[in-house]
Amino acid sequence: MVHVRDSLQGLKFSPTLLINEEVARMRERGETVYHMGFGESPFPVHPLIQERISGYAGRNQYMPAAGLQSLRDEARRYILERHGINNDNFVAMIGPGSKELIFDIQLAVDGDLLFPVPSWVSYIPQTLITRDQVIKIFLNPDTAYKLDGATLDTAIRAARDAGRNPRKLILNYPANPTGMTYSDDELAEIAAVCREHNVLVISDEIYARVSFETYHRSIARHYPEGTIVTTGLSKHLSLGGFRVGVALVPSGMERVFTVLRAIASETFSAVSTPIQYSVMAAFQEYPEIEEYIHTCTEIHHRVTMRVWETLRRLGVDYGRPAGAFYLYPDFSSYAEMLKSRYGIRSSEDLSRELLTRMSVAALPGTAFGEHPETLRLRISSVDFNGAQILKLYYSGAWQEDDQFLDRAAPRVLEACRRIEQFFQPE
Ligand SMILES: Cc1ncc(COP(=O)(O)O)c(C=O)c1O
Repeated sequence: MVHVRDSLQGLKFSPTLLINEEVARMRERGETVYHMGFGESPFPVHPLIQERISGYAGRNQYMPAAGLQSLRDEARRYILERHGINNDNFVAMIGPGSKELIFDIQLAVDGDLLFPVPSWVSYIPQTLITRDQVIKIFLNPDTAYKLDGATLDTAIRAARDAGRNPRKLILNYPANPTGMTYSDDELAEIAAVCREHNVLVISDEIYARVSFETYHRSIARHYPEGTIVTTGLSKHLSLGGFRVGVALVPSGMERVFTVLRAIASETFSAVSTPIQYSVMAAFQEYPEIEEYIHTCTEIHHRVTMRVWETLRRLGVDYGRPAGAFYLYPDFSSYAEMLKSRYGIRSSEDLSRELLTRMSVAALPGTAFGEHPETLRLRISSVDFNGAQILKLYYSGAWQEDDQFLDRAAPRVLEACRRIEQFFQPE
């Protein structure tokens, strides 16, 4: 008999991928589903990068474990510049997606993880594998689900008093699932607390370039010696399937970097060689690629704002979305109605009923670390055809036509109507 390790019994398939598969099955059966559950940016691969891929198809040698040196250099320069980090003391590591790099950092660095709730679905399951303890810090819609220095300080002190060893904080901004981000001052405040308590910040900045109105700034500006920045190409360039992530490790953390490189060398070896060569262009400030990133982000902004308007009408908004393509409404003001009309008592009930009654898929708050009875959902705004929407955008319809979104993102708009209908008084 083969036995699964006890520590991994609780490890489940990622809820985002699970709902994606469920939606695919329903669509195969001919059912119409409005997929507000998945977080994949739907734009095509930029032609320049497609061209590069075929040019490098013959490159079959292994790359160094930390990545192709010229790619590491370009990525480092680009991220420092674009994330407003005016400090040179970082080295870059290339990995197969930032998800893997975040896991490797968690594995490499000792201590318990400070986890703001809600946060992205994969951080906690990763701690099941690394066998780290998680210290949850519950956040609320009245503060736009944002962590502040005082709350963090209290959580660290309480954890220490309880005999825990908080050594790592995961911070993601613009955030999945809330779309919120931090101002420079807010980051400075969090940085000061982390410095005082000697806590490493794993700063997940994968949505940096999907920032709507503000220029993205990294917490590494304020705490360079104690921050590892992770990012990648999956969101602003819709290259999730390419599996390219980057970690910037401060040069004072040589030991951590050495271990990360060793983990790479003993597990995935290196990111695919043709991919590493072809994505170099993504970090080289080509005007056409920068323009593409800008256009895609503008489209995400406009579609996301349309979903936000729906939430405002329902009275469940919590702050203006600042980036990414998600919203995270709290439906507790509808709790009585949801219980009596639909028998809903948890976010998982809510997600299921919305899918079966309204054909709208959304992720329950439990996937982001919430208590089951907290009636929150993550609603994403990417159920549209990226190639089609770009065509409309470049035809000028974008600027002229008020009804543009009806043509460009009909499924998102229909999902919004259905969500409103679900919560309407009878
Ligand atoms: C918050 C956040 N971090 C990290 C990732 C991982 O991205 P990748 O591994 O494609 O770089 C995602 C992807 O969904 C995400 O939403």
